[in-house]
Amino acid sequence: MSLQNKVAIVTGGGKGIGQTIAFKLAAAGVRVVVCSRTQKDIDHTAGVIQEQGGQAAAICADVSKEEDVARVIEGTIKVFGPPTLLVNNAGNYIYKSVGECSLEDWNKSIHVALTAPFLFIRGCLPHMKEAGYGRIVNVSSLFAVNPHTKNLSGYCAAKSGLIGLTKQLSYELRGDHININAVCPGAVNKDDDDLEKDRYKFGEHLLRRDVAESVQFLLSDAASQISGAVLDIAGGTGFETKVHAM
Ligand SMILES: NC(=O)c1ccc[n+]([C@@H]2O[C@H](COP(=O)([O-])OP(=O)(O)OC[C@H]3O[C@@H](n4cnc5c(N)ncnc54)[C@H](OP(=O)(O)O)[C@@H]3O)[C@@H](O)[C@H]2O)c1
Repeated sequence: MSLQNKVAIVTGGGKGIGQTIAFKLAAAGVRVVVCSRTQKDIDHTAGVIQEQGGQAAAICADVSKEEDVARVIEGTIKVFGPPTLLVNNAGNYIYKSVGECSLEDWNKSIHVALTAPFLFIRGCLPHMKEAGYGRIVNVSSLFAVNPHTKNLSGYCAAKSGLIGLTKQLSYELRGDHININAVCPGAVNKDDDDLEKDRYKFGEHLLRRDVAESVQFLLSDAASQISGAVLDIAGGTGFETKVHAM
């Protein structure tokens, strides 16, 4: 399951789930580039990794902008070499019903959750193909497939699209030794440390590290025969959700 010395880009790695993914991967020996729009957040993530003896770099970027995505990929190559691991994690939440959603709101959801992964995948694929190896994980959501709230239609539509992209690309990439999968977390509790004590009250808590460990698995050699999969990470938060048919 060795990820030692591989090069990863983790989008939205400045906080939340993306930060935990970056920490996990760095602890496994991955050289990690984190990006988000907030420099101090990504500097903090990279700084913690470096303090712990890992290798990380931070590149400030808006993942919905084509030129920023190109800059992150170029910067990654400059610092660590071509990326063969990609985690499309950056996300935004626009809590509006369709009726309340402006076109701008709608576009923001689509651009961050769907267009950004497309741009990163398109930019990384030539390097993965050249390496004859690549692993991509897209962070979708249980909400993409199981309606749960009245106010997140743009988000859910984009996350659903991300699952479609994942499945279609897994087919397109057959024979290239590049695997692409999606994870669908349920509602993740905000602070892993506070909840660690209650860890085994299954049915109540889903932690960031639960998501990070699943992502790490899908990036690893242990998952080398898994592509086009959509992994629900529901914990106890998903008991009332339905099986999805996509
Ligand atoms: N938390 C949950 O319960 C849950 C459940 C299911 C799925 N998810 C998914 O998991 C992922 C992470 O969620 P989270 O709760 O950890 O979110 P979070 O704490 O809000 O962190 C989101 C990260 O994405 C970055 N980001 C947002 N828009 C960006 C943009 N345009 N360009 C660059 N970076 C951007 C943010 O940084 P800046 O704002 O500084 O740019 C931040 O680092 C998201 O895709 C989310 O949809 C979360």
